[in-house]
Amino acid sequence: MKNIVVLISGRGSNMEAIVQACATEGWNARIAAVVSNRPDAAGLDFARARGIATAVVDHRGHASRESFDAELQRSVDAFAPDVVALAGFMRILTPGFVAHYAGRLINVHPSLLPAFTGLHTHRRALESGCKAAGTTVHFVTADLDHGPIIAQAVVPVLPGDSEETLAARVLAREHVLYPRALRWLVDDLLRVDGLVVRHTRGEPQLLV
Ligand code: GAR
Repeated sequence: MKNIVVLISGRGSNMEAIVQACATEGWNARIAAVVSNRPDAAGLDFARARGIATAVVDHRGHASRESFDAELQRSVDAFAPDVVALAGFMRILTPGFVAHYAGRLINVHPSLLPAFTGLHTHRRALESGCKAAGTTVHFVTADLDHGPIIAQAVVPVLPGDSEETLAARVLAREHVLYPRALRWLVDDLLRVDGLVVRHTRGEPQLLV
């Protein structure tokens, strides 16, 4: 049974989707803990209500990224993680933290990477006139939002879309894509060759 630690900063709907999928699909894994950098993250209430261990490492108590990441690492490692899943965790991580979890640290990002790294992805996709948008699950490397891509989901950009409507359409796909990709990692079904990730049994890594 593998231990998954999920890191959140807010609402935690992707974390909820992971918790539900893990339980209903009977993964060979458990959600060992949900850790947040914000004490008021709404997702913490969901986790507590499900009897999942929670921890808070408040970034505001730290003068440097290195100091915050060192405490975060101690907190996460206390739950002996096999996999660490960033789910709306809105902190830039230091290279040392990323290296410590190399190969077992993944993230969901609300764009079709490598387009629109960073913030305000939906606004930038709309302003760029994109006809498609989507989401990416990827391994985390020190290069922000540029790690090897595990899976992507595509949605249309519709006439009249606002940031909110596009974000909602993308989020609904994240809730399918992220648990699926995370389970592949748990089940050791991914092979990484440079930036290219392949599913060893040929499962489709694109959701359209
Ligand atoms: C998700 O859309 C996720 O892709 C995004 O934040 C949202 C979190 O929602 N993550 C990033 O922007 C990371 N760069 P949630 O808290 O409801 O899962």
